Amino acid sequence: MNKERKLIIAGNWKMNKTVAEALDLVRGLKIELGNVKEVDIVVCPPFTALGEVSKAILDSNIRLGAQNMSENNVGAFTGEIAAVMLKEFSVRYVILGHSERRQYQKESDALIAKKALAVHAAALKPIVCIGETLEQREKNQTQQVLETQVHGSLAGLSKEQMSETILAYEPVWAIGTGKTATTAQAQEAHAFIRGVLVKMFDDTVARKVRIQYGGSVKPSNARELMSQADVDGALVGGASLEVRSFSDIIKGSI
Ligand code: 13P
Repeated sequence: MNKERKLIIAGNWKMNKTVAEALDLVRGLKIELGNVKEVDIVVCPPFTALGEVSKAILDSNIRLGAQNMSENNVGAFTGEIAAVMLKEFSVRYVILGHSERRQYQKESDALIAKKALAVHAAALKPIVCIGETLEQREKNQTQQVLETQVHGSLAGLSKEQMSETILAYEPVWAIGTGKTATTAQAQEAHAFIRGVLVKMFDDTVARKVRIQYGGSVKPSNARELMSQADVDGALVGGASLEVRSFSDIIKGSI
């Protein structure tokens, strides 16, 4: 596929996989995807599997991501994980502000912006998630919601930091529901988000930023979604948990 920006396809494993299961999965992915150079491939296991997965993908084309990170560097924050701890496992990417965390952990745009700054301060790359709910879409609030989330979640980032930030557009109504946004809906939202980045940063930055689509991505719809001009990859949930489906998504997008 001829794209302006290199595709980045990440598997968000969410709260799935024991260490043994995680190793099975990445060993299979290494075999299937060993020759792929056209796409940046990322897996985001739960924290408990980062160490072993990190060793298993050493010297491979698969990069490691975490699913969350503390905005603080060290100290009395029970249950939290700091950037320096992720770096011990050669983590390169950190998913921030996933809609599940916005919903269940009540993460706000302001908190996500603090986390994004902490991720950059550690020379890691954030994957910042945004997206509207079904109710918001039905009330025609999609653009307003996305604009607010982009401004709030990326507040304070420099142009250089923004250029190294990945966005993931994940319409909440499409996550885990089997309902994918149509290619037209995805492209429209992605182009709108890029337009917000032009106003907030500048044209050069906006052209560099990769915007992933997420929400019921599977082998049968991935290629068409990623063929859209402003769709620069995918953040895959359920279909990233099996070697076959995740590798088919990646191979199908080349
Ligand atoms: P599904 O691919 O399972 O819909 O999940 C999408 C998602 O939330 C990825 O972060």
